[in-house]
Amino acid sequence: MVQHEQPDRRGFLTKLLAVACGGLATLVPAGAGLWAFLDPLRRRGGGAQLIQVTEIAAVPDDGLPRRFAVVADRKDAWTGYSAEPIGAVWLRRDQGSETVRALSATCPHAGCSVDMAPGGNCFRCPCHNSEFTFDGGMVPPSPSPRAMDALECEVGKDGAVSVQWRKFRAGVAEKVAQS
Ligand code: FES
Repeated sequence: MVQHEQPDRRGFLTKLLAVACGGLATLVPAGAGLWAFLDPLRRRGGGAQLIQVTEIAAVPDDGLPRRFAVVADRKDAWTGYSAEPIGAVWLRRDQGSETVRALSATCPHAGCSVDMAPGGNCFRCPCHNSEFTFDGGMVPPSPSPRAMDALECEVGKDGAVSVQWRKFRAGVAEKVAQS
């Protein structure tokens, strides 16, 4: 004998399903947000990533800047890429100092990569010829609206040199971090 479902019971199941779907739709984005909040790399300075770029032995204490690639895992909307170059830094160390100073190699004018000038006595951006001192200061008459962007740099007990990598808005006078 076939038993027919009562309309009340069917309505209850439909509501239960709707509540479950609604709960799931709320929990999934909330979980993703919680993961992003708890990610240790993101917690260090709102978008900055602490990335090892070299060892201190590779930065001689002669005051001359050396260029290093910044390599990290990268993710776009759908795909993850491991150990991809995401930028570059210039590192410098004064004689007898254990402190390493870091400048982003990304030009503050329009985002090209700042290089060493042919004479080797300052930086020059190949795109529109902005020039910068080794401290990152602007050499007039450069089109760049600001000096090169300094980055926080740490030297670990094991000699690992790491920078707080982040990008800054190009073309504006203020140093504004991108999220
Ligand atoms: S992008 Fe560097 S000077 Fe224009």
